[in-house]
Amino acid sequence: MRNRSRNLEVLLSAEEIEQRCAELGEQISHDYGDREVHVIAVLKGSFMFLADLVRNISLDVSIDFLGLSSYGSRKATSGVVRMTSDLSLPIQGRSVIVVEDIIDTGLTMKYLLENLQTRKPESIAVCTLLDKPSNRRVEVPIDYVGFEIPDEFVIGYGLDDAEFSRHLPYIGVVKEAGNES
Ligand code: IMP
Repeated sequence: MRNRSRNLEVLLSAEEIEQRCAELGEQISHDYGDREVHVIAVLKGSFMFLADLVRNISLDVSIDFLGLSSYGSRKATSGVVRMTSDLSLPIQGRSVIVVEDIIDTGLTMKYLLENLQTRKPESIAVCTLLDKPSNRRVEVPIDYVGFEIPDEFVIGYGLDDAEFSRHLPYIGVVKEAGNES
């Protein structure tokens, strides 16, 4: 049977990610003082990061999910962002923190922030586990970054390659010969 994680080079270990989640959670707890925060996680990629991040936030936290899709082909963005599922709760007057797995071109986050602003939250902050700034096409404000990474296609810890490998506890780069990017 083919093992999809066979040719992975570990970029960020489970321990490094765990440590960074603790730091980010502490930073957010400090920045928001005694305010309640409403965390919006972008599915599917951020599910694992969300779970580790919120366990390190020592404030009152409510959570909602939203599905977005932009990938037309395997590893390149189509540039067209689509909402696949909407929030279940209103955000008017709330201190929102958007939790994302990775910001690459920035097109997905730009679309999302414009959409959320129309719902009149008190504030919106962006927390992304990974930032690939070298591939940015539009500027987006990012308040919390886990790791800045080079322009490589990464998988694991929520991030997928054609829906596989989200379950890996670390983040890796595929080093398979003949892999297109
Ligand atoms: P953007 O719109 O180009 O910023 O891309 C955002 C979305 O593209 C992320 O939420 C991911 O779903 C996906 N994406 C971008 N880079 C990668 C990667 O290296 N691995 C897996 N998914 C990625």
